[in-house]
Amino acid sequence: MLGEVVKVSPEQSQRLLDFLCQLDDQSEYMLYRPGERKANGHDLRGHIRCLRCNSAILAYRVPDVGFVSYLALYGGRQARDKHVATLSCGTLKDWRSRGIMHSLWQAGKEFAIAAGLTRIELTVVMANVEAVQMYSKWGFEFEGVRRASWSQSGTKNEPFQNEWWMSYGV
Ligand SMILES: CC(C)(COP(=O)(O)OP(=O)(O)OC[C@H]1O[C@@H](n2cnc3c(N)ncnc32)[C@H](O)[C@@H]1OP(=O)(O)O)[C@@H](O)C(=O)NCCC(=O)NCCS
Repeated sequence: MLGEVVKVSPEQSQRLLDFLCQLDDQSEYMLYRPGERKANGHDLRGHIRCLRCNSAILAYRVPDVGFVSYLALYGGRQARDKHVATLSCGTLKDWRSRGIMHSLWQAGKEFAIAAGLTRIELTVVMANVEAVQMYSKWGFEFEGVRRASWSQSGTKNEPFQNEWWMSYGV
């Protein structure tokens, strides 16, 4: 492997933001459309500082390149849902299909066990075939349909798309 998995620290917030903006520009199925992310490095630094012990942003760092992939787990904030985390992830285009997300998922699972998480959940646009396939391979199960929840263009000029609700038992 070319790089390593790291837990992103508050000091790396600007680098993470630059990476996330690049990912938004390249990916059809990330929540933010190109240029839509408004946070600055300072905001993100505060956000990372305030993450609880059941949340983490893991990234794959390649020497002399920087972050090329990330997987975030956001744990619940209350006693009744602190065992549940929401997952989001993405890899820069030039770095896809090299097993990088697989490495991040291994590290994510280790983090989840250590943090006492017992359920990981996510939503994924049905048309995002690579991601649906990946989550299924990882052992995520379909729980239901999140109907008309996704607008690809962000306008009302097209039909809304459905997402899958998926979950994984740690
Ligand atoms: C889905 C995504 C995260 C996979 O990241 P990656 O670093 O390429 O993943 P890996 O190389 O570790 O491959 C993991 C699995 O993804 C799937 N996958 C990756 N590339 C694929 C491709 N070109 N075609 C089909 N499936 C693919 C496979 O199931 C693969 O498992 P395998 O290697 O055992 O076959 C990446 O394509 C991506 O960032 N997409 C855009 C952002 C996104 O959709 N994020 C998820 C939002 S819910």
